[in-house]
Amino acid sequence: MPATPVTTRVPAAVDRLHFPPGFLWGAATAAYQIEGAAAEDGRTPSIWDTFSRTPGKVANGDTGDIACDHYHRYRTDVGLMSDLGLQAYRFSLSWPRIQPGGRGPANPAGLDFYRWLVDELLDAGIQPVATLYHWDLPQALEETGGWTARETAERFGEYAALAADALGDRVALWTTLNEPWCSAFLGYGSGVHAPGRTDPAHALRAAHHLNLAHGRAAAALRATLPDHARIAVSLNLHQVRPLTTDPADLDAARRIDAVGNRVFTGPMLSGGYPADLLADTAHIVDWNTLVRPGDEAAIAAPIDLLGINYYTPAVVSAPSPGGAAVNHAHGESDHSPWPGSEDVNFHLPPGDTTDMGWTIDPTGLHDLLMATSRAHPGLPLAITENGAAFPDIPTADGQVQDHDRIDYLHRHLAAVHRAIADGADVRGYFLWSLLDNFEWAYGYEKRFGAVHVDYATQLRTPKASARWYAGAIGANSVPSL
Ligand code: FCB
Repeated sequence: MPATPVTTRVPAAVDRLHFPPGFLWGAATAAYQIEGAAAEDGRTPSIWDTFSRTPGKVANGDTGDIACDHYHRYRTDVGLMSDLGLQAYRFSLSWPRIQPGGRGPANPAGLDFYRWLVDELLDAGIQPVATLYHWDLPQALEETGGWTARETAERFGEYAALAADALGDRVALWTTLNEPWCSAFLGYGSGVHAPGRTDPAHALRAAHHLNLAHGRAAAALRATLPDHARIAVSLNLHQVRPLTTDPADLDAARRIDAVGNRVFTGPMLSGGYPADLLADTAHIVDWNTLVRPGDEAAIAAPIDLLGINYYTPAVVSAPSPGGAAVNHAHGESDHSPWPGSEDVNFHLPPGDTTDMGWTIDPTGLHDLLMATSRAHPGLPLAITENGAAFPDIPTADGQVQDHDRIDYLHRHLAAVHRAIADGADVRGYFLWSLLDNFEWAYGYEKRFGAVHVDYATQLRTPKASARWYAGAIGANSVPSL
């Protein structure tokens, strides 16, 4: 009997990791980071215009005045998306463009820009995904208290209705807020983001009012949009790991999970603010007066999809007596973005880091998806941001061979694939970002794009990662690792 032949070829099916049919492949951007045209067609300043003009707040004094000039070049940019084969494009609407000053009627010119953009996308067969708020609060509303004022949540509900009324016939997937943790805790706690306030009580007040704003916007969207439209929110959920299994480290992880994650998922998805968060922060705010009757019910407005933005995990340990807490997660500041848990230590997770200094850890994405699925069964998930900054030095012929970014995307997509195989209901993936852009306090120093932007000429050049991503989209799969 002949010996059984030794198989040397792996069957084709396991050469690649196939995503479920209908898995949505996209890329994401945000208004202030790409649009420019800061003072055109009736747009009023946002807190980021003010912040970026405040000396010392943004690297090199960079501003979003011009950014990628997307406001004038959106047709070119939709062409780039088409070349990539993108199926969906997540962008944000600029509140001060649509509703100058944050109150009153809509600005027709502001709405027109988004109508044209959306029409261009639909003509190219790309599904528009609109985010109502990616951090550009109208400056006029900051002057009446910003997110520390309850009134701002009411204004946001009105703005949501204006946007839905104008675009609801052509945008079928909406997200209310992008990363309210950053808005509240970096904007009002550590102060590394606009408006740059540094008061723990303000940060917690802002968190509640952002939650309420989400609830008001979700209700306004539901009332205005056609039945088939879907409503989501994008959270930068922290994948929190205790440094050791010591009970004190476990408690540090619990605290950061509370003020990093459950401060939002609690009222949005689990019926109210978690008792441990309220206890951890009771000395900072009076939650009984901050949260009014009916607020939690409003925040719990049903959503159809939870967007998760993931870049790196957080490793924490118990406060060390006399030791200064270190926060590697989001820039350095003398003020903590963790009210009530200021003394928790943050450790840089082991492994290679990106140009942001963020450890590359795809396992964190898998674990976050699994934990979120278990905590919120039945709620579809999508990765609404994931990506990496690298120095991206163009070669002499202007090309960018960003194999580090390809590796990052590849390994994170494989982690998403593994989470789906393990039972997580993940419907799509949006690469951050389509274009190099204004990276907040880092200005133009950090490049996250699949497409390189030469800011002097506004020339766009797809990087090697753009071609790699186009291949993944076309095949609905990535190579096995
Ligand atoms: C996220 C933001 C996005 C971008 C990436 C790198 O926190 O939502 O605008 O800055 O980080």
